[in-house]
Amino acid sequence: MTVVERQTATPELAGKRALVTGGTRGIGAGVVRHLLDAGAEVLTTARSAASTAPEGAAFVAADVRSQAGARTLAEAAQDLLGGVDIVVHNVGGAQPYEGSAAIPDEEWQDALDLNYLASVRLDALLTPGMRERGWGRIVHISSAAVLSPEVTMFLHYAAAKAALVTYSRGLALELAPFGVRVNTVSPGRVDTPGGVETRQRWAEVATRMGIAPEESDAEDVTVPVGRDGRPEDIADAVLFLVSERASWLTGRNLIIDGGEFPMG
Ligand SMILES: NC(=O)c1ccc[n+]([C@@H]2O[C@H](COP(=O)([O-])OP(=O)(O)OC[C@H]3O[C@@H](n4cnc5c(N)ncnc54)[C@H](OP(=O)(O)O)[C@@H]3O)[C@@H](O)[C@H]2O)c1
Repeated sequence: MTVVERQTATPELAGKRALVTGGTRGIGAGVVRHLLDAGAEVLTTARSAASTAPEGAAFVAADVRSQAGARTLAEAAQDLLGGVDIVVHNVGGAQPYEGSAAIPDEEWQDALDLNYLASVRLDALLTPGMRERGWGRIVHISSAAVLSPEVTMFLHYAAAKAALVTYSRGLALELAPFGVRVNTVSPGRVDTPGGVETRQRWAEVATRMGIAPEESDAEDVTVPVGRDGRPEDIADAVLFLVSERASWLTGRNLIIDGGEFPMG
């Protein structure tokens, strides 16, 4: 009898240390699981509920909306992982309002802090180490909402996510000579707790505005591939971007939406 020896390939992210914001549910949890499966050590964060973080990931509670939250996270990453090679900025979201003038000033600021400045602040703390080591991967999660004609109820969110795309592109050019690649992923409708909750509120606001649900885009949207996205659809794209298969890919915004949105 011939014994066939199985070759155990080294997982592609073995030895890499990853930080994922908002990894206790939805897209973030999908990204954490994919990175763990690929062999990375992963630290994740949310404001609460460490118990729901995917098994195998380290967890620290932090609110990424402030400079203090970013510092807590960077320090925890240093203490627990010894540094960060891969960062996935996944936290984001906003409540819908009945048009731009109805969005309170503090909500504009909150949308900027959560969807844009959280990434800027954390990157500023983590990129010096990546530059020094000559290796880094950064993925910002934006939204296909920046391409949608239906953004009026979410103008604060869409504007902040658009700023994130432009920032990501600039950071990519700055860091490319140092072995650090930076990209954005922009999801369409993904079936997550946050996504479902937001679309419910969106439909309520649309009803108050006298917009029929089928015209509001909150419900009954036809996604060309025939289904809403799953967190894994987005996590697959993130894993690709941080892998060596994407070694010539930086400064880009990958739209993953089942074909729903027009080209950006
Ligand atoms: N789902 C969609 O249809 C969709 C579409 C386009 C873009 N996106 C984008 O994809 C990303 C993930 O969306 P999702 O639908 O997966 O979200 P989700 O289901 O609402 O999950 C959000 C995660 O972030 C954490 N979080 C929220 N605020 C935080 C804060 N201030 N500090 C730290 N952690 C925080 C949450 O935990 P805690 O609440 O305990 O903090 C949770 O772990 C977001 O950037 C979103 O804008 C989603």
